[in-house]
Amino acid sequence: MGRLEGKVALISGAARNMGAAEARLFAREGARVLVTDVLDERGAELAAEIGPAAGYRRLDVTDPEQWKTAVGEAVERFGGLDVLLQNAGVVPISPLAQVSLEDYENCMRVNATGTFLGMQAAAEAMKTRGGGSIINVSSVQGIVGAPGLIAYTASKFAIRGMTKAAALELGGHGIRVNSIHPGIVRVRKPRPGQPVQDPDYDSLGQALPLGRAAEVEDIANAALFLASDESAYATGAEFVIDGGMLAGPSYP
Ligand SMILES: NC(=O)c1ccc[n+]([C@@H]2O[C@H](COP(=O)([O-])OP(=O)(O)OC[C@H]3O[C@@H](n4cnc5c(N)ncnc54)[C@H](O)[C@@H]3O)[C@@H](O)[C@H]2O)c1
Repeated sequence: MGRLEGKVALISGAARNMGAAEARLFAREGARVLVTDVLDERGAELAAEIGPAAGYRRLDVTDPEQWKTAVGEAVERFGGLDVLLQNAGVVPISPLAQVSLEDYENCMRVNATGTFLGMQAAAEAMKTRGGGSIINVSSVQGIVGAPGLIAYTASKFAIRGMTKAAALELGGHGIRVNSIHPGIVRVRKPRPGQPVQDPDYDSLGQALPLGRAAEVEDIANAALFLASDESAYATGAEFVIDGGMLAGPSYP
């Protein structure tokens, strides 16, 4: 029997990379999955690849109406909502002096406001169901800062804080709320009209205690644990999956 047998999950930003790995793994473990994103073609392809256990619905996480529709679709199509995995995010990279207000506000809107709206939309459906698990994807930048990532750091700290406030409010309804804090994860992000320029993950990974960057499956496995009943006693907690990055400074 799968670890998510009988559960229904909604995953935001699930068309590619980490979110797609999570959708595939959740379905393999017996969940029915509503794949959502703003990348409609890739999202629909992924849902088709997974098969009848999955469906695709466009969901821009900054829009409360689209949240309502997406949660409603999960409930109507699959019978309820047990797991909300908030994976959608943007990463504007720019030194403090050069970050435009527009980029800052957009990052906060997608990463932080989007997470708030998602929890608000899912909570009622989960209360009706008698409980659920909300997993908010933050980052190591929700715990420490990084140069060139001021807006991202602000948004990921906000996610970590909101997770705890929501955990306190929703615990009595059997709804658990936790945050995941990935470190450096090997992903591919093609941008229209530009050649793909991936970071040098091998060199970046070598500097970490575990000697490698994370694969998307490393993060998906942590999300699986939080989505399943195996984590039944965990709420308001931070799950750091960073290959040891934040364990402390290393000395020669
Ligand atoms: N890659 C890393 O090293 C890393 C590290 C720590 C945390 N994270 C976090 O993990 C999550 C997934 O990151 P990824 O690396 O797979 O990146 P990604 O860009 O491939 O995935 C993010 C997804 O969010 C979607 N998205 C963007 N704006 C949206 C919106 N307004 N509404 C709905 N969907 C939207 C994108 O279309 C994309 O599919 C993000 O929250 C990111 O901040 C990534």
